[in-house]
Amino acid sequence: MKTFFFTVLVISFLGFALAQDTVGGEPGTIPAKFPSHLGGNSPWFPGPDVNGIPYETPPGCTIDMAAFTSRHGSRYPDPSAFQQWQNLSLKIHSANFTSSGPLSFLPTWRPVLSDPDQQLSKLSPGGWKELYDMGVAYRWGYPQLYTDNSPFVLWSNLYPAAPRVVDSARLFARGFLGPNATTLGKVYSLNSSDPRSLANSLAPSDLCPNYVDDSGGANATQWADVYLPPIVARINGMLSGNLVFDASDVSLFPYLCGFESQITGTTSPWCDVFTTDELKQYEYAQDLRYYYGSGPGAGKNGTFMLPFLAAVMQRFQDGPEKEYVQKDGTVFRPSPLIATFTNDGQINQLVSEIGVFDGEFSLPPNRIPDGQRYVASRYVTMRGTIGFERLNCRVNATVSSHGSQGAQQQYVRVLLNDIVYPVIGCADGPGRSCELEKYVQIVKEKQMQAGEFNTVCGFGNGTDVTTFLTDTTLPFESAVTP
Ligand SMILES: *[C@@H]1O[C@H](CO)[C@@H](O)[C@H](O)[C@H]1NC(C)=O
Ligand SMILES: *[C@@H]1O[C@H](CO)[C@@H](O)[C@H](O)[C@H]1NC(C)=O
Ligand SMILES: *[C@@H]1O[C@H](CO)[C@@H](O)[C@H](O)[C@H]1NC(C)=O
Ligand SMILES: *[C@@H]1O[C@H](CO)[C@@H](O)[C@H](O)[C@H]1NC(C)=O
Ligand SMILES: *[C@@H]1O[C@H](CO)[C@@H](O)[C@H](O)[C@H]1NC(C)=O
Ligand SMILES: *[C@@H]1O[C@H](CO)[C@@H](O)[C@H](O)[C@H]1NC(C)=O
Ligand SMILES: *[C@@H]1O[C@H](CO)[C@@H](O)[C@H](O)[C@H]1NC(C)=O
Ligand SMILES: *[C@@H]1O[C@H](CO)[C@@H](O)[C@H](O)[C@H]1NC(C)=O
Repeated sequence: MKTFFFTVLVISFLGFALAQDTVGGEPGTIPAKFPSHLGGNSPWFPGPDVNGIPYETPPGCTIDMAAFTSRHGSRYPDPSAFQQWQNLSLKIHSANFTSSGPLSFLPTWRPVLSDPDQQLSKLSPGGWKELYDMGVAYRWGYPQLYTDNSPFVLWSNLYPAAPRVVDSARLFARGFLGPNATTLGKVYSLNSSDPRSLANSLAPSDLCPNYVDDSGGANATQWADVYLPPIVARINGMLSGNLVFDASDVSLFPYLCGFESQITGTTSPWCDVFTTDELKQYEYAQDLRYYYGSGPGAGKNGTFMLPFLAAVMQRFQDGPEKEYVQKDGTVFRPSPLIATFTNDGQINQLVSEIGVFDGEFSLPPNRIPDGQRYVASRYVTMRGTIGFERLNCRVNATVSSHGSQGAQQQYVRVLLNDIVYPVIGCADGPGRSCELEKYVQIVKEKQMQAGEFNTVCGFGNGTDVTTFLTDTTLPFESAVTP
């Protein structure tokens, strides 16, 4: 990933004649350009670098373990979204109109799916590229965390509606492991609707009757009523005849921009319809959708990934060499790279509990605030990735409490789409990392504040401990070949 990040930096330093907010076409991304403000409907892109913390491993430290939780890659629309695209197409083609400027393409526009029966809800070729490239980037970035031609286990949410999550894990494994991936790799797909998986899957909220994602509720609706009407009026001003778009039509345009670009590999004409300021308003609608839907503003709806986070940190405490005795008595020695794949709701829940957005003010429903840190486009993109690194650092003799030379101390570094984020209140380690033991305490405190998993969830009286990272014999997981 280091090589990859540098390439991106170099490109931006050279100052190509691109609009400032345009991304894509860089290593690891889809080949087409697209605006960087599409929230959860964005193809993947690294950054932006909002914290100014160097990506390089801090001096005196090595990374001896890493973990990531990634959303599936870019995909085709789900059936309900595709129905909206078809309705929009029908509306356009039943009208008698002329259009100008960036809307000149309307008379020839059709939804880009070539074979909806085969494609709906699955990964698109743009997603295949994101995931394969991701696997290669992680192999380059963390060569010390994998021994050539050795077995590698990773995990995915089962997600019954489509195979896009497990397919993301499979494609990552192919990029990471290369030509022998099918024999070396094994994806454990976790059935989050099996009651035995309570607090022990990659979508634990699926079993919780108390989990309600209201997509941002009244705050999101209020913002839609503020930001959309002027855009609707401006866009309808480019039409003459009997075609008139309404707010729900117009709110689809940035969505179509993102999806069409990753499905076809070519920039969608919809990407030029909104101005940059309008795209930022759309982006804020995505922020509200996630912040109040399953994030920091959603009561305890955002807390259900805490047992998983605690389990990742337990592995960081156990260290890279640890072997685990499984339920059936066999021994499992997991990889020091902990690779997991899931969906946007879970990415958003997890990102809200890792300490990087603590103390964030409530997002207002009527304006875009200054100093906002929680921005969905920076991590809930397709293939959006929350990364953790265990830094093993040499203790400086003068400041060491042990005073002994050669002593090592462990720290945690958090990355969102390859950008380092400081943990609020715990950023005084090398490269603004957080001491592992302190981070473990922060997670414990968050679990205390959240309350007992079963009670908050409204289901089950079992345990609230995640064990799947150290036990591959659980009855609700099945092995899939990359
Ligand atoms: C599409 O249009 C049909 C017919 O007007 C309507 O019944 C349906 O609800 C629309 N679907 C969506 C997803 O907008
Ligand atoms: C389309 O609109 C134009 C301009 O108003 C009109 O001349 C033409 O007859 C209309 N065509 C149809 C098929 O309604
Ligand atoms: C694939 O595995 C075989 C058998 O272990 C080995 O000989 C070969 O070198 C491996 N290929 C690669 C590309 O590592
Ligand atoms: C997942 O678990 C549920 C509940 O036990 C079950 O109905 C479903 O068939 C399982 N799915 C798969 C793919 O095994
Ligand atoms: C809307 O935002 C306010 C202020 O943050 C919050 O108190 C309220 O719960 C939010 N409403 C919904 C439905 O999420
Ligand atoms: C989730 O949010 C809904 C509102 O959308 C709220 O009624 C419910 O209490 C929240 N659940 C939890 C566990 O906080
Ligand atoms: C040791 O000191 C160097 C130089 O001041 C600093 O960069 C590094 O972060 C320190 N290491 C630790 C573990 O505090
Ligand atoms: C909770 O425990 C009771 C008593 O052991 C058991 O009958 C019940 O099935 C359990 N409920 C769940 C959801 O696990």
